[in-house]
Amino acid sequence: MFGNSRAVTTNQEGVHPALEATVRRHLAHAWRAPLGDHDREAFARARAWVGSSNRPLILDSGCGTGRSSALLARRYPEALVLGLDQSAHRLARAERRDESPANLLLVRTDCAGFWRLAEAEGWRPWRHYLLYPNPWPKSAHLKRRWHGHPVFPHLLALGGTLVLRTNWELYAREMGEALTLAGLTASLNELSTDGESLTDFEHKYRHSGHRLWELTAER
Ligand SMILES: C[S@@+](CC[C@H](N)C(=O)[O-])C[C@H]1O[C@@H](n2cnc3c(N)ncnc32)[C@H](O)[C@@H]1O
Repeated sequence: MFGNSRAVTTNQEGVHPALEATVRRHLAHAWRAPLGDHDREAFARARAWVGSSNRPLILDSGCGTGRSSALLARRYPEALVLGLDQSAHRLARAERRDESPANLLLVRTDCAGFWRLAEAEGWRPWRHYLLYPNPWPKSAHLKRRWHGHPVFPHLLALGGTLVLRTNWELYAREMGEALTLAGLTASLNELSTDGESLTDFEHKYRHSGHRLWELTAER
């Protein structure tokens, strides 16, 4: 029910004990898993849309229904905004919304494959948003969180200002530690309870009384 979202619960007592070893291992080795045809097709579509434009690029990775992507496209009309999500169902809800800004494209894709292709293509987004990624709060799921995933060095190689929002403080703290291990400085702030919601999940969490966190890092 709206406004009745449960807080994240975890069997971890703090930052995951294997975080440092996992991040160091991933930073030392590029991720070579084969890319799927679907990822290549999705990236080709995005590349054709971006074309040879030299406008600043914003990635909204895991954009869900694209509410944040549309807001960002309006906030930064000089930029091109790509909203990426693997869920056709969530993206379809975005398409039913009125008038999508002309500087916005939503693409169905797995971000992990897309980021690797974007890095190989030499893309360097200006800003990169990770808004309320799935927390995967069980200890056994560390490798599914973006900072524990083998794609992490490729995410960093894309560069730009990274903006992560989450309702699970530990996710943000772990991401901050992973960024520190990679030589980056991140700052963690709590969002006010009455600000404008950037995403549907943020809206729901705010109305459920959750504390919300934003981590930013410059490349
Ligand atoms: C908790 S929802 C947040 C959606 C949106 N950012 C918001 O705040 O309303 C997480 C989103 O990430 C997407 N997602 C998770 N893993 C993904 C992946 N590997 N590639 C693309 N999208 C992914 C899910 O489909 C889902 O829409």
